[in-house]
Amino acid sequence: MASLPEIQAMKRALELAFLGRKAAFPNPMVGAVILDSSGNIVGEGFHEKCGAPHAEIAALSEAGAAASSGTIVVSLEPCCHYGRTGPCTDAIISAGIRRVVIAMRDPHPNVSGKGITQLESSGIEVETNVLFDEAESLNRVYLHYLRTSRSWITLKMALSIDGRTAAKDGSSRWLSCEESRKHVHRMRGSVQAVMTGGGTVRDDDPRLTSRGSDDPGEQQPARIIVSATGDLGNSRKIFENPGRVIIAVPENVAGSLQKFQSEFGADVWEFPADFSGYGFNLTLLLERTASEGFGEILCECGRGLATMLLRKQLVNTLSVFTTPMILGGEGLPAFEELGIDSMDDSIKLENVRSSLLGTDTHLEGELVYRID
Ligand SMILES: NC(=O)c1ccc[n+]([C@@H]2O[C@H](COP(=O)([O-])OP(=O)(O)OC[C@H]3O[C@@H](n4cnc5c(N)ncnc54)[C@H](OP(=O)(O)O)[C@@H]3O)[C@@H](O)[C@H]2O)c1
Repeated sequence: MASLPEIQAMKRALELAFLGRKAAFPNPMVGAVILDSSGNIVGEGFHEKCGAPHAEIAALSEAGAAASSGTIVVSLEPCCHYGRTGPCTDAIISAGIRRVVIAMRDPHPNVSGKGITQLESSGIEVETNVLFDEAESLNRVYLHYLRTSRSWITLKMALSIDGRTAAKDGSSRWLSCEESRKHVHRMRGSVQAVMTGGGTVRDDDPRLTSRGSDDPGEQQPARIIVSATGDLGNSRKIFENPGRVIIAVPENVAGSLQKFQSEFGADVWEFPADFSGYGFNLTLLLERTASEGFGEILCECGRGLATMLLRKQLVNTLSVFTTPMILGGEGLPAFEELGIDSMDDSIKLENVRSSLLGTDTHLEGELVYRID
């Protein structure tokens, strides 16, 4: 069983791990804390970005000789293979660590329990599943990627209390209060990419940048526009603001987007036209985004793209800001038909978090799809 100082050290390791949120992907976020034989913290580290030293190595190097006979508390099973860096298990063994406390096994096929076996066969005591739920939730994007090879999609929507995303005329500006808007800017600042559909680009000409951060050097998320027609109307702001812009379209319309490539340096990603005759397969897009290093994508779109993503079960988190306003049946609904005929078919949210933001209610949770 883990001791109280080890549990506290694990909480700290999870906090440290979170610091790698923007750059660790496709690697997991990992934090590590070294306790000496009296239970004092003598070293800390986290995995800052892909290719950088692993958390265990950073913590061991901070601890130096003080790690000998100590305990390493780490939020994920240490690796035991040669990747971009050497195996962490070897470094732990040579540092003279006596006990290893781990939050969860790493399901990566190169590790998957082998790290634990190697440590145990070297005579090191190993304790696992300490704050497992917290560690699993922290690394949901990495775990999802291992399972599916896709990016994690957080679909954000601002709704009236009657579930409308825009008024009848298509206007949706300021459908949420100032506090909610600030929160959305923070959400944009914490992901690698923001995605939207051609409809929103034509109607709203949005920037989709993260604004209001205290960090003047903040890197803007990439913006991905999904379009079946390649018609982006008179939109300019998304291209004129800093950050990479990607336009994802079916092959047959890519030619019409050359001006966005030459004038604004936008990237055009082409996908085979979908067999249904509409657009392209969004699963292929999310595999490509993951392979380009976009672990989590914030999707801020209208009902067209939101519906397509939901139908394909590609939305992982739903993040809804509800504002005290009624737009009536003539307003635009959040989704089109989803094939839900009864309560049994409904898509539910789990792990629901809710809070008040100014005059709005913010509700967020992970989607649970029915498996037929
Ligand atoms: N309240 C909110 O949170 C919120 C947020 C954003 C937007 N809005 C409002 O939503 C309205 C726009 O709604 P919308 O449904 O037109 O916009 P949308 O969902 O942003 O875009 C829909 C478009 O996405 C593209 N698309 C969807 N699935 C595709 C696929 N499989 N392959 C290729 N392209 C695909 C198509 O683009 P093309 O048409 O270019 O082919 C489609 O028309 C506006 O009034 C806007 O103000 C509200």
